[in-house]
Amino acid sequence: MRLERAELLTTDTPQSFETAVRKAAELLQAGHVVALPTETVYGLAANAFNSDAVARIFKVKGRPSHNPIIVHVASLDMAMRCAALWPPLAGRLARAFWPGPLTLVVARSPQIPDIVTAGGPTVGLRWPSHPFIQAVIQRCGFPLAAPSANPSNQLSPTNARHVDKRLGDKMPLIVDGGQAQVGIESTVLDVSSSPPRVLRPGMIHDQALLAVTGTLAGPTNESHPILKSPGLLQKHYSPLARLLLLTWKTDRDLVAQTERLKINRSRTHIIAHTHIPSGQDFSNVSVIPHDAEAFARALYAQFHESDEAGAEWIIVEQVPDTHEWRAIADRLTRAANP
Ligand code: TXA
Ligand code: MG
Repeated sequence: MRLERAELLTTDTPQSFETAVRKAAELLQAGHVVALPTETVYGLAANAFNSDAVARIFKVKGRPSHNPIIVHVASLDMAMRCAALWPPLAGRLARAFWPGPLTLVVARSPQIPDIVTAGGPTVGLRWPSHPFIQAVIQRCGFPLAAPSANPSNQLSPTNARHVDKRLGDKMPLIVDGGQAQVGIESTVLDVSSSPPRVLRPGMIHDQALLAVTGTLAGPTNESHPILKSPGLLQKHYSPLARLLLLTWKTDRDLVAQTERLKINRSRTHIIAHTHIPSGQDFSNVSVIPHDAEAFARALYAQFHESDEAGAEWIIVEQVPDTHEWRAIADRLTRAANP
């Protein structure tokens, strides 16, 4: 394993974009692992058809081998080549939401190695909308297996610096494609059985899916025996600081709640969208607009910042109970109850 740090390449001019595509593709063709931007979170990519290359992903992340990896494609054809069966519903969903933050779980083709699917009969497929990863997949001509580019059980990265900080000494290249525009991981929808079931909520929410599918299986209960997404069971999506979800009306109300909970306010980071407390009581107050898309985009970067600043607590203002906010509420609840 190499000891020097990853090369960091930018993509903000046509020349630098092209250079980064070429270098990433060369490394991927040689069986290496590289960190690439996607619109959801940064991914740790390898040739999905090469089991040795995919094994390197597990090693770099410290990921348990029972957790399958999503395969990223850059065309419908490529997706269908990864599937043994392509149900008509998958076609309709792909037309509606690809490229974009939706992963479709379908029966896997024999070309997908066991290590990608953790030995299971299905594969998760996603056509990401970020232009850089699309260009790399097209250049390579093979799909890319890619989990989020973080050590197993840690927070997903939404920019290149997040990746560099935690994994920069474990791979040859990190490509900087800017701040991830969606900001939380894709919706994972199992269409290998009927009715389709959401395994992981994301910004493409139930209401949007229902417009295409007409029906969805009930929400996945984690103690449910048919849970098919092992990644959901782990302590995922959590910052290092302890996280609390609270509702408050006034500064005084919030301060009183922290008194009762014996929280050290001088090491507490507040993330608020509607009732913004004055800064003096807490070590940091961040405001994210009361808009689900803006909130998702900024949330993990705020968590990363709080962790880097050594916050002991993160208090997040409770979010609305509507479809648009459901994936955010899911991540916040997991982070609050790790
Ligand atoms: O937005 C995303 O999906 C990002 C970017 C990089 O594309 N990727 C991502 O990958 O979040 P990862 O590995 O961190 O999370 C993938 C989730 C895990 O919970 C895994 O168990 C589940 O998807 N998954 C993958 N393949 C599956 C399959 N065949 N069946 C059921 N669940 C699957
Ligand atoms: Mg992950």
